[in-house]
Amino acid sequence: PFLPGGHGRGDAGLRALCEAAAGCRGCPLHREATQTVFGSGDADARVFLVGEQPGDQEDRRGEPFVGPAGRTLDRALGEAGIDPAQTYVTNAVKHFKWAHEEGRGKRRIHKPPTLREMTACGPWLAAELALTRPEVLVVLGATAGKALFGSSFRVTKERGTCTERDVHGRTERVVPTIHPSAVLRAGDERSRDEAYAGLVADLRVAARMLD
Ligand code: URA
Repeated sequence: PFLPGGHGRGDAGLRALCEAAAGCRGCPLHREATQTVFGSGDADARVFLVGEQPGDQEDRRGEPFVGPAGRTLDRALGEAGIDPAQTYVTNAVKHFKWAHEEGRGKRRIHKPPTLREMTACGPWLAAELALTRPEVLVVLGATAGKALFGSSFRVTKERGTCTERDVHGRTERVVPTIHPSAVLRAGDERSRDEAYAGLVADLRVAARMLD
C-alpha cells in the first residue's frame, strides 16, 4: 500500500494504520476493490481534506485523489493559497465500489457509498484525525458530509462556512465545500468556471483559518 510521506509526528502511527487498513474486512467492498486506498500526505498537515470514496484511478494506484478530481482539487487549493503538499487527503470510504447493473455486469462507474459502508469506515477516519490533529477539516461534497454528520447534512446550505463540530469525538473546525468532481460534471464551460470559482472561494475560507 501507499505509505504517507513526510516526517511529521504522526507518521509512524499513520504508517501502521495504513498497513492495518490494507487488510480491512469491515464491509463487503474489499472483495472487489483492487486495494484499500488510505489517506496520504503530510502527517503535520494543518488542512485535512475528506472526499467520498476512491475513484477508478485511485483504486488502481492505491492513492487518494490522483485522478481528474484530484487535479482539479490541487489547482483550486493552490489558487486558494493552500499548498497541496502540506495537506492530508483522505476519503470517508477507503475502498472503490464497483457498480453492478442488470445485464451489463460489473462496471467502473460512480455509485455513492451506502450508510453501511460509510459507518464501517468511520473508525479509520477517526484514527487519521487523532494522529494528524489538523487545524481545519475540509469536507468535500454531500456524501462526505453525510458520512461525518448524518443524513441531514446539506452541502448547499453549509458550504463556505466555518463551524466547530464534533467529528468522531473531536472538536474540529469544519469548512464544507462541493466535491471537485462536481466542477468536472458541470454542463458547459461557464457552469464549470462558476463551480470552480465557488470551490476556490470556499477553500479560501479554510485558508483564512490558518492566518
Ligand atoms: N473522488 C473522491 O471522493 N476521492 C478520491 O480519492 C477520488 C475521487
